[in-house]
Amino acid sequence: MRRNGQNGQTARGGIWEYAPAPEDRSIVALRSRYGLFINGEFVEPHSGRYFTSLNPASEEPLAEVAYADAEDIDRAVRAARHAYETLWSKLPGKERAKYLFRIARILQERSREFAVLESLDGGKPIRESRDVDIPLAAAHFFYHAGWADKLEYAFAGRTPRPLGVVGQIIPWNFPLLMAAWKIAPALACGNTVVLKPAETTPLTALLLCEVFQQADLPPGVVNILTGDGQTGAWLVQHPDLDKIAFTGSTEVGRQIQKAVAGTRKRLTLELGGKAAHVIFEDAAIDQAVEGIVNGIYFNQGHVCCAGSRLLVQESIAELVVRKLKRRVQRLRIGDPLDKNTDIGAINSLFQLRKIERLVAVGVQEGAELYQPECALPSKGYWYPPTILTKVSMAHTVAREEIFGPVLSVLTFRTPDEAVRIANNTRYGLSAGVWTNKGSRYLEFASRVKAGVVWCNTYNKFDPASPFGGYKESGFGREGGIHGLAAYVEV
Ligand code: NAI
Ligand code: MG
Repeated sequence: MRRNGQNGQTARGGIWEYAPAPEDRSIVALRSRYGLFINGEFVEPHSGRYFTSLNPASEEPLAEVAYADAEDIDRAVRAARHAYETLWSKLPGKERAKYLFRIARILQERSREFAVLESLDGGKPIRESRDVDIPLAAAHFFYHAGWADKLEYAFAGRTPRPLGVVGQIIPWNFPLLMAAWKIAPALACGNTVVLKPAETTPLTALLLCEVFQQADLPPGVVNILTGDGQTGAWLVQHPDLDKIAFTGSTEVGRQIQKAVAGTRKRLTLELGGKAAHVIFEDAAIDQAVEGIVNGIYFNQGHVCCAGSRLLVQESIAELVVRKLKRRVQRLRIGDPLDKNTDIGAINSLFQLRKIERLVAVGVQEGAELYQPECALPSKGYWYPPTILTKVSMAHTVAREEIFGPVLSVLTFRTPDEAVRIANNTRYGLSAGVWTNKGSRYLEFASRVKAGVVWCNTYNKFDPASPFGGYKESGFGREGGIHGLAAYVEV
């Protein structure tokens, strides 16, 4: 396939051509500069410093965002503590629920604006931000609004009490959704929050602050501080926090664990993954191929539970790889705001370089590289959908999290071998399995060490269903009653 670099239009010698169908970006009214959201209003950062958030599809600067330092963190934690003690922890659950319902409804009303901004700031296709990120974020607020006045039923026979002030740090792959995952359960349980978004994708969290204002959320209940890893480290070190919740890399998770050890702070960590996606020979192959493609190319592979290792039974390996390659040729890569786009931009230059480096190592170590012929846009950060075959468990690409649109294919002969390979990883977040036999699925699910196992589907999320990992994928669960438990003392 060939592409017109300017607008992601595709000219292919295929069956038909799509006309570009870009979403109108004028629905987003960006300010040129954003302050820190402390005590219900946007304020200047103590340092006076700002940094830029780019559109990774065009490298165009979108807005300047305040850089929070330790002083700002302290100011925000004090605001959150005051709101906790004087108001939020004392408010009856049914009153807290009203705020959460209101936030959820406003998110729905403004969903197109949020979807466009999410795609602009992070590079993900509008189809995903529109159909996945924003609806799930609203669903998370609705779900937890429902729990706010029913906590004594969630923890029957015990008295759940909030923890206090919570520090939360989130990554760039699902910016608004991760904010919702963190904020909704914390507020439902009566805690107050200081949250730090990722440096490349702060804009939807800042728009969420406008929603809090619109919903009349009392000042100080949620404070949002933008900055980088150092800002995150200062937040973790603040002595007056009762809990830290983090989603991001295993390496930073480890540093946070050290920083929190020996303090009163509770900790939940949601870290990396290297999911095995297993196809048995009795699976419905075409559906499985669709699921594999969704599992790894969804959101450019910027997904901690991405199905990055394909384990295919040897008897069908050739057929599956052939079908996969044919499907991958048809994926549309380009303008994230175009509704036809399957694969958007890589989130940052840093992440692009990491993907390039790991794929190069894979090839050096003997993997065979397949990428469809495609001219990528000249500006912005892009990586084509990639399949690596002839991969074994000794290969770096089968062990390291790549966090890009790169699938490593391994083969197995027996169900035992599939389980052994699936578990041969330091991670344990998720896995997928395709088979027509219920017994085979149940056996696999009971033996694989992963927090989530999808059967004959992939990347399905629901606020009622707990999500989280084993081993180096972290600890604690988000979603469902398990997720609530991480925000109460019983
Ligand atoms: P990261 O772990 O550095 O960043 C995640 C968040 O933590 C950001 O808000 C960042 O500002 C903050 N942070 C960074 N250093 C910190 C520190 N010392 N203390 C407190 N907060 C800190 O992830 P990064 O560098 O963006 O991505 C690196 C790799 O991590 C990716 O290539 C990917 O493999 C993995 N990753 C996994 C994610 C997941 O959902 N499990 C999400 C993002 C990245
Ligand atoms: Mg950005």
